[in-house]
Amino acid sequence: MKERIVLAYSGGLDTSVAIGWIADATGAEVIAVAVDVGQGGESLETVRQRALGCGAVEAYVADARDEFANEYCMPTLKAGALYQNHYPLISAISRPVIVKHLVKAAKQFGATTVAHGCTGKGNDQVRFEVGIQTLGPDLKCIAPVRDLALTRDKAIAYAEEKNLPIETTKKNPYSIDQNVWGRAIETGYLEDIWNAPTKDIYSYTDSPEFPPAPDEVTITFKEGIPVAIDGVAVTPLQAIEQLNRRGGAQGIGRIDMVEDRLVGIKSREIYEAPGAMVLMEAHKHLENVTVEREQARFKATVSQRWSELVYDGQWFSPLKRSLDTFIEDTQRYVSGDIRMELHGGRAVVNGRRSDTGLYRFDLATYDTGDTFDQSSARGFIDIFGLTSKVATERDERVAGEAK
Ligand code: ARG
Repeated sequence: MKERIVLAYSGGLDTSVAIGWIADATGAEVIAVAVDVGQGGESLETVRQRALGCGAVEAYVADARDEFANEYCMPTLKAGALYQNHYPLISAISRPVIVKHLVKAAKQFGATTVAHGCTGKGNDQVRFEVGIQTLGPDLKCIAPVRDLALTRDKAIAYAEEKNLPIETTKKNPYSIDQNVWGRAIETGYLEDIWNAPTKDIYSYTDSPEFPPAPDEVTITFKEGIPVAIDGVAVTPLQAIEQLNRRGGAQGIGRIDMVEDRLVGIKSREIYEAPGAMVLMEAHKHLENVTVEREQARFKATVSQRWSELVYDGQWFSPLKRSLDTFIEDTQRYVSGDIRMELHGGRAVVNGRRSDTGLYRFDLATYDTGDTFDQSSARGFIDIFGLTSKVATERDERVAGEAK
C-alpha cells in the first residue's frame, strides 16, 4: 500500500498545487483536509471538489465553526487575550482546531504524515507542527513551501502545465488568513512600515470615517460568555457573526501593528476583528464590575502570559492548561448586561448591570445612603504608608551622615 499524507488544504493556489507537488516528490497519496473556521467564501463542497480535481485521493471537509467559536474564541475572550496588547490571536487560535481535524483525518485514513502550506519564516509552521507532535506523536510533518521548494511562481507554472481547476491569474499581493474571529493581512506594500494601509485591504470592516448612525447594543454575558444580544439568545458563533456585521459597519476593530514573531522577525500586520474587539471591550467592562480587585490585577498578568503561549504555538501545553483553570475560575461571576454604543470606529460602554457584581452603591455614593465609615480611612492610610515612611526616614538619615 502507498504511503498516505494528509494535507491542510485551504482551496487556494498553493495548497492546490501542493497536492500534486507532494505526490510527485514523495510517491505518496494525498488526502486533502479543509476545515471551516468561519473564513467565509466558497462552500466546503466546492473546495472538496477542487481538491479531488487537483489529484487528492480523498478530500475531507469539516465544519468546525461552532467548535472554533466555543472552544477557541470563547477562551480567548475570557482570557482577554491581546498579544502585545493589540492582536486578538486570530490565526494563532485557529491552528490548534485545524490540527485536531488533521490528526483525526490522519488516523481515519491511515496517513503517516501531515503536510501544511506554511513558509519557514512564520509562526504558523510552529503552531501546526507543535500541535501535531503533541496530538499525533507518531505523525511526521512536511511543509512543501518550506521543505519541497514550492514557490509561488513554480505553483503558477505547475497549475498551468497540469491544467489544474484553479485560477492562477488573480495575483493577490497580500497574504491573508481569515476566520470568524478576524482577518490577518500581511506582505507586499505593507512591508514598508511607513506605508499606511490602503482601503482595498479591508473586507470585514467599512471605513470608520463615514459611519452610519450610532448603533446601541446590549450584550448579555453568563460566566464570561455572550448568551444574548439585545435580549435575543445567541450562540457564541452567532454573537461573533452578528457583532462582526454591526461592528464592521462602524469600522470597529482595525489594527495596524509591528509584532514580534516567534522566529525572531518583527513583522507588519494589519488585522480586522470587529466582533472580537466589541466582545472583548464589553467583557472587560463587565469584569470591572464583577471580578474582585486582587483577582483582576493578577489576571492581567495571566492574560499576557496566556497570549504569549498561544501566540507561540503552545495551545496544548501544560502551562496554558493551568492558566485556563485560573481564568475559568475568575469567570464564575462575570454575568450581566453591558450596554454599548458602536460608532465611527469605537465601541464605547455606557451602561452595565449585574446580579453578581461587586459594585455597591451604598459604599460608593457621596449622597444619602452612604454606609462607608470614613473615620476608618485615617488609620488605614497611616499603616498602609508606614513602610515607605520608615524607608524615607532611613534614606535621609544615611544621606545626612554621609555629608
Ligand atoms: N502574524 C499573525 C500570526 O502569526 C498572522 C499570520 C497570518 N497568516 C497568514 N498566512 N497571513 O498569528
